Amino acid sequence: MKLSNLALAICLVLTTAAQAQTKRTDLSLSYSFIQGKLKDAAQQISTLIAATPPDKFPKTFENGQQKFSNSSWWCSGFYPGTLLYLYEGTKNDTLLTLATDKLKPLAKEQFNKGTHDLGFMLFCSFGNALRLTGDSASYKDILLTGAESLASRYHDRQKAIKSWDWGSWEYAVIIDNMMNLEFLTQATKISKDKKYKDIAVQHANTTIKNHFRKDYSAYHVIDYNKETGAVSRKKNHQGAFDESAWSRGQGWALYGYTMMYRETGEKQFLKQAQHIASYILKHPQLPADLVPYWDFDKEKVPATSKMYKNKDLRDVSAAALYASALLELSQYTTGKEAKGYLGAAETLIKNLSGDPYLAQDGENGGYILKHSVGALPLDSEIDVPLTYADYYYVEALIRYQRLLAGKSIID
Ligand code: GLY
Repeated sequence: MKLSNLALAICLVLTTAAQAQTKRTDLSLSYSFIQGKLKDAAQQISTLIAATPPDKFPKTFENGQQKFSNSSWWCSGFYPGTLLYLYEGTKNDTLLTLATDKLKPLAKEQFNKGTHDLGFMLFCSFGNALRLTGDSASYKDILLTGAESLASRYHDRQKAIKSWDWGSWEYAVIIDNMMNLEFLTQATKISKDKKYKDIAVQHANTTIKNHFRKDYSAYHVIDYNKETGAVSRKKNHQGAFDESAWSRGQGWALYGYTMMYRETGEKQFLKQAQHIASYILKHPQLPADLVPYWDFDKEKVPATSKMYKNKDLRDVSAAALYASALLELSQYTTGKEAKGYLGAAETLIKNLSGDPYLAQDGENGGYILKHSVGALPLDSEIDVPLTYADYYYVEALIRYQRLLAGKSIID
């Protein structure tokens, strides 16, 4: 066979393989595009793998320096979770081994009753490990002990899981806490004990009641009275000011209510997710590439504020979260609305997968995405890569890959 004929034959085989994977006609990103991005991400993370000490967890790469945490930091589950998603996407067994090795120093957090972040820490990691390996002997007890630790933070007076135990907060509940509820609904599936899911539903109901403004933007923190359970303060800890809409907070809300609709079939959770999506997608401050500024109200930051010089920064972590959540929301809605969510998710995936957001091979400390903002008012993690931005970006790629293969978005 002549070389040009051989090339043509290979091309035909590859095209047929890709077409066999593409069962849906409404998707604009191709199988080879998504596969290519997963492969590139696995290549990129090898730099971070090489830099990560055995007992530490990646946080960020700042001023040319790697920053790691111990297992008790809220982000410790994202790195093993990302490795697991990349294993799922590439079928590279080395990634599975690296991920499961990383679970060992994380396992002790199952006993941690001092934080609400156990969903991020244990479900993104051990939850994905159980889903992908089916190894209940290794993971089931850890997950259930962790869920019990999380459930211990629920109190009937506030009808919500307490987020923080520090500072002058009485009983702080943050919008981010919506993300930890999936851990509880899964614990009910594993244990057949409905108490975990009941807590999740109650927390989500309380959050609908107290966390949202009339326009469906969310406050970051609701502080409840310790004795009476009444709302005592509505605040923004990581947003620009108390009445602003912190972009990642809106993402936690969007993802949280979409997921809670999946887990319960409760129509009011779907409606809430639709309202939040509409707030985000119709916001006049949302840039054309859909990667949000770190706060939707950044224009109201006064020139005298220390935040002012950085007020125009984007937050890629929020964008990655929106991409994954909107992809899922598109599956629970119909017609023009579903098409809108799917189109927005595709735009986000496409834009995050290139300049200026995607890191070049070997740069950015081995993190996949650049340009996230941790907490501008706290002067922390400003315009840096963040482990959770990578996690939700890779999750969006995996979800899209499943849709291309004609599967449901979630296992
Ligand atoms: N959960 C903290 C954050 O979103 O930065």
